[in-house]
Amino acid sequence: MKTYRIAVLPGDGTGPEVVVEAEKALDAAASRFGFQLDKTSYDLGGERYKKTGETLPDSVLEELRSFDAILLGAIGHPDVKPGILEKGILLRARFELDQYINLRPVRLYPGVETPIKDKGPNEIDYVVVREHTGGVYTGSGGISLKGTPNEVAVQSMVYNRHQVERCLRWAFEYARRHGRKARGVGDRNTLALVGKTNVLTYVYDLWERAFHEIGEKDYPDIHRDYYHVDACCMWMVKSPEWFDVLVTGNMFGDIITDLGAMTQGGMGLAAGGNINPEGVSMFEPIGGSAPKYTGQGIINPLAAVCAGQMMLEDLGEQEAAAAVEEGVKLVTGTKLKSMAAGQMGYSTSEVGDLVAEAVARG
Ligand code: IPM
Ligand code: MN
Repeated sequence: MKTYRIAVLPGDGTGPEVVVEAEKALDAAASRFGFQLDKTSYDLGGERYKKTGETLPDSVLEELRSFDAILLGAIGHPDVKPGILEKGILLRARFELDQYINLRPVRLYPGVETPIKDKGPNEIDYVVVREHTGGVYTGSGGISLKGTPNEVAVQSMVYNRHQVERCLRWAFEYARRHGRKARGVGDRNTLALVGKTNVLTYVYDLWERAFHEIGEKDYPDIHRDYYHVDACCMWMVKSPEWFDVLVTGNMFGDIITDLGAMTQGGMGLAAGGNINPEGVSMFEPIGGSAPKYTGQGIINPLAAVCAGQMMLEDLGEQEAAAAVEEGVKLVTGTKLKSMAAGQMGYSTSEVGDLVAEAVARG
């Protein structure tokens, strides 16, 4: 039987509670579709840092490279100064494992309330492909004359052609396989570049030229669009149905995907994949550790379940992934009263059970 080795990083706060529920759905999918998940858990996070001062030790990083995928709960601890765990664990894993794609679906499921009036699951259904290892996240810059009135701070948006090109190519391929036409809900697959060519005339000029050159030469079947990032935010609220696959740099991708998450019903539903197409990828609910809800059994685990679903897709278990997504839709559409923590009408583990039962039943 096909066996996948999965590293599970439950992490901090409500991370462990939601990861357990994702595992239920994954296990149900594995037994129904005939594969095995061999899981190894790592205690990375705030508690370990407080005890040992370690964030992501080299030895763990080396072990992580050998897995087929990583499932992460959440990182972030109220007793640890902001930045330490994010940089030490999340960003370090991204950079060291070269997870240069961040894939974030913005998909409204049935029964989920969106703050956008008159829009439903047919209108809010697109993905953002965020470049994930470059731009301002490269960390290039510094402070001079610190503490004086002439203090200068520089943090540069750095991209090379290789970084831009590998991200764009991945996005074009994604659009070809998963765009609206490929999904049977439209007559063309569209990739839209989100940039700021009117001000960032170096960085987004590079992106824009590469986008059209690659598109014209290798992806003539994919329709190309362009939005300035500020306008994109406006259209994400006003006309989300225009979007299919969006591709953008790291910082803009970070910002627009939080906006996208709110339009799909909030952080309790939003999942992301940190993908290295040639290596090991990491899947996570993007909502954070929500420490105030820890241990109460009231947090919504569906974002973690959706992260698990993305992981199955990445592993090539398309049928299993589709079954998990159907399970989630059934639960949002016919069971939960609300998606908000404490207002679901079910506990965290009951929601996990509902999805797992739906997946097992088919
Ligand atoms: C995200 C987060 C991270 C980011 C932080 C925690 C470093 O906001 O995954 O979107 O900015 O990328
Ligand atoms: Mn973010």
